[in-house]
Amino acid sequence: MTLPETMRAVVTMGHGDMDQLVYHTDWPRPDPGPGEVLVRVGACGLNNTDVNTRTGWYSKAVTGATSGGGHDRLNEDDPSWGGAPIRFPRIQGADLCGTIVAVGAGVDPGRVGERVISDNWLRDPLDPLNKDKTGYFGSECDGGFAEYATLPARNALAVNSPLSDAELATFSCSYSTAEGMLTRAAVTAADTVLVPGASGGVGGALVQLARRRGARVVALASEAKHADVARLGADLVLPRAPADLRAVLAGERITVVADVVGGPLWPRLIDILERGGRYTCSGAIAGPMVELDLRTLYLRDLTFTGSTVIDPEVMPSIVRYIEAGEIRPALAASYRLEDLRAAQTAFIAKAHTGNIVVLP
Ligand SMILES: NC(=O)c1ccc[n+]([C@@H]2O[C@H](COP(=O)([O-])OP(=O)(O)OC[C@H]3O[C@@H](n4cnc5c(N)ncnc54)[C@H](OP(=O)(O)O)[C@@H]3O)[C@@H](O)[C@H]2O)c1
Repeated sequence: MTLPETMRAVVTMGHGDMDQLVYHTDWPRPDPGPGEVLVRVGACGLNNTDVNTRTGWYSKAVTGATSGGGHDRLNEDDPSWGGAPIRFPRIQGADLCGTIVAVGAGVDPGRVGERVISDNWLRDPLDPLNKDKTGYFGSECDGGFAEYATLPARNALAVNSPLSDAELATFSCSYSTAEGMLTRAAVTAADTVLVPGASGGVGGALVQLARRRGARVVALASEAKHADVARLGADLVLPRAPADLRAVLAGERITVVADVVGGPLWPRLIDILERGGRYTCSGAIAGPMVELDLRTLYLRDLTFTGSTVIDPEVMPSIVRYIEAGEIRPALAASYRLEDLRAAQTAFIAKAHTGNIVVLP
C-alpha cells in the first residue's frame, strides 16, 4: 500500500486557549520506528487531559476547576500530568481506534490490517512495572488527532467487535481509568459505590464497571442527564451536588466513593462513607483544593487511594469486556477532525452524557 507523505492533523502549538489547536492539511506523516506500528486513525476520543495539558491545569500554580483557564499563571516546569514540561508542537488525542497499515522493524508484518484501540500508557519495555518510567499517548508523544499515528506495537490492542470506530474510540482513557480505580479500591459485589460525575466519561464507565463487579451503584449527575445515567445501569441517580447528601441517600450505606469531581462537594463525599470505607480518586474536575477533617479519616477508619498510572493488565481486560459485550460505549457526538475546536467546546460545555470523538 502506498502511503501519503503528509496528512491532516490538529496540532497543539503551545499552552493556551483554543487558538493553540491548529488544523493542518500537510503535516508530515510519521513513520513507525522499531517496535512500533503505524495506524490509520478511524476515530479518536476527547478527554480532559487534552484540555488540562493545553491549559496547563496540572500545574501546582493552578488551583481552580478544570476548564477554568490557568495558562496565564502556570509554572513552566510542571504543566503536564506527570509534572514535566510538554514538547510542542504536539498532536494530542489519546483514545485512538483504527487499522494498522504498516509496522516497524521487529513487529510481525501479519499485524497489518488489524483493527486496534490504544492502551494509552507508554511503559519502559525493560521496566514495565515502574510507574515513574511512563508516558501518555498524546501527551509525551504524538497521539490520534490526525489521519495517522504511531505507537508501540504492544500499545495497539487488537479488538474484535461489531462496534463502530467512533464507539470504540470512547473506551481507552475513561474505562481503563475507571477500572483502575475500582481495582485499587478492591470493589466487590458486597459494596455500594457512590459515583459523582456519573454522566461523564470516567463516571459512566465507573457505573458500568462497578455494576459488572456486582456492586450497587448510586450516581450523582445533573438532572437533565438522569435518564442517560440510569440507562448505564445506576441503581439510584441523585442530583449532582445535594446540600444534604446524607438525607438524599435515605439510608444507602456507601462503602466506596469513586470520585473524579472533588471541589466544593468533597467534604460531604467523605462524611457519608461508612466506617472502614474506601475513597478512590482519579480527577478533580470541580477543583483540586479540598478541606479534610482529619478526624473523619482516622476515627472512621477510612482508606484513600489515588489512581492514575494503572497496572498493565487493566486495558487488556477492558478489551475483553468490550468483546464480551459486558460494557457499552456512551457515544454522545462525532465531529470531523477539522472541527476539533467545536468538539472541544462542546466537551467543555458538559451538556452531553458520555464521550465525544473526532473522525479524520
Ligand atoms: N487520573 C487519570 O488517569 C484520569 C483519567 C481520566 C480522567 N481524569 C480526570 O477525571 C476528571 C473527569 O474526567 P471525565 O473524562 O469523566 O470528565 P467528563 O466526561 O468531562 O465528565 C465530568 C462530569 O463531572 C460532572 N461535574 C460535576 N461538577 C463539575 C464541574 N464543576 N465542572 C465540570 N463537570 C462537573 C459533570 O456531570 P454533571 O453535569 O452531570 O454534574 C460531567 O459530566 C477530569 O478531571 C479528568 O482530568 C483523570
